Amino acid sequence: MRVSVIGTGYVGLVTGACLAAVGHDVVAMDDNPAKIAVLRQGGLPIYEPHLAELVAQTTRAGRLRFTTDVTEAAQDAAVSFICVNTPPRPDGDADLRYVELATRRLAEHATGDLLLVEKSTVPVQTGQWIQKTLALYAKRPGCTFDVASNPEFTREGMAVEDFLHPDRLVLGVANPRAEALLRELYAPIVEGRFACPVHPDCRVDRAVPVLVTDLASAELIKHAANSFLALKITFANAVADVCEAAGADILEVVKGVGLDKRIGRAFLNAGLGFGGSCFPKDLRAFVKIAERTGYDFTLLKEVTRLNAARQAQVVEKLRRALWILEGKRIGLLGLAFKPHTDDIREAPALALAQRLLAEGATVQGYDPQAGAKAHEAVPALTVCPDPYTAAQGAEALVLCTEWPEFATLDFARLKAGMVRPLLLDGRNALDRDALTALGFEVLGIGRGRPPVPPARTP
Ligand code: UGA
Repeated sequence: MRVSVIGTGYVGLVTGACLAAVGHDVVAMDDNPAKIAVLRQGGLPIYEPHLAELVAQTTRAGRLRFTTDVTEAAQDAAVSFICVNTPPRPDGDADLRYVELATRRLAEHATGDLLLVEKSTVPVQTGQWIQKTLALYAKRPGCTFDVASNPEFTREGMAVEDFLHPDRLVLGVANPRAEALLRELYAPIVEGRFACPVHPDCRVDRAVPVLVTDLASAELIKHAANSFLALKITFANAVADVCEAAGADILEVVKGVGLDKRIGRAFLNAGLGFGGSCFPKDLRAFVKIAERTGYDFTLLKEVTRLNAARQAQVVEKLRRALWILEGKRIGLLGLAFKPHTDDIREAPALALAQRLLAEGATVQGYDPQAGAKAHEAVPALTVCPDPYTAAQGAEALVLCTEWPEFATLDFARLKAGMVRPLLLDGRNALDRDALTALGFEVLGIGRGRPPVPPARTP
């Protein structure tokens, strides 16, 4: 099927590359000529596991190409995915100007029937506006336009895997024609008919559930899903605070709670709070959407407030341990908003760095992928070439992002470089007992039960 993708950010690139990988002909369009030039030369503007290989394979096979020309994206395609960004406006509402622009251009340049698919996260009822815009700007009388909502549920760092092995597909459609097109487009994924680039020997043992629904419900599913996940994390963070004060261990508590099938263990990891380009923005947007319907979503307002307080709590913990923060050197492990990405948008690590810098501390950090971006965003943060340099001379080391490689560091070497072996594990990702045995003073999040003392050798 001939497909176009408007916008080559995380969503657009992953959508384009994955659809090309399962056999479709994809043209990916972006207004930014520098980005398109990088992509045409085989580079990627972002780091995302498996994406570079997928883009290289599919461009070589002639199934994925890049352009700045919207006519190419409009004229050849049967389906066009709108993957432009929807940044937050100062009041929290989503800024939909790029969605409108993409719609208008597709309307003006389409030469045949076209299904426009909302892939970017948009407020409920955006589909109606897209339909109105198409009716206003369509140039050629022969073209029929359909609109659908097909929200993405991919996580950064796992995007290729999530796209090709989704938990579910949500198709918000207005008529059977749009449903048929989307079903055909996704058939290879639903039925597992593709060579998996992530797990070459993977076998799909069940068809992916497909929920066909109306446009407005599909749009709402996306905001409701992200808000619920953010709420779940915030709940775990709140329970962690209680655990800490009550002498209980959050890891044990979420294990016990998560074993209930109705709840599940996922997204109950307490820590420095959630960040990224989705949860914080989508929560605020959902509050605004609800406000327009007359509902005051106080629950989600509180989630935003509690999440924003997480880094201040960590500063407080450090203050309790170090007394005066001014002039002290603090190391940060992990700067990206989560592991396996170089994305630093709303990264809790950077919010923490800024707070510590404001206290007069010297902050140095290391991240396997996000160092350059982090330094650009917070120039006063010294970005180190490795974790050992980030620990050098530090009075405390804070693990902010749980990159797997941090679990296997040479902690004795790390400790040797530190002024004081204080380790605050902001993601409860390290082996607290082993570190305590090595002589570290270990603080965690919600770990009220003291670490097991090292076994005495007789
Ligand atoms: C999130 C959703 O998980 C995706 O389903 C959705 O498609 C995506 O937003 C989107 O709307 O585009 P993402 O932001 O990439 O994906 O990352 P997550 O893995 O959800 O993590 C978000 C934040 O929550 C990170 O800062 C992470 O550290 C934090 N988190 C996650 C926790 O603090 N605890 C947890 O248990 C899980």
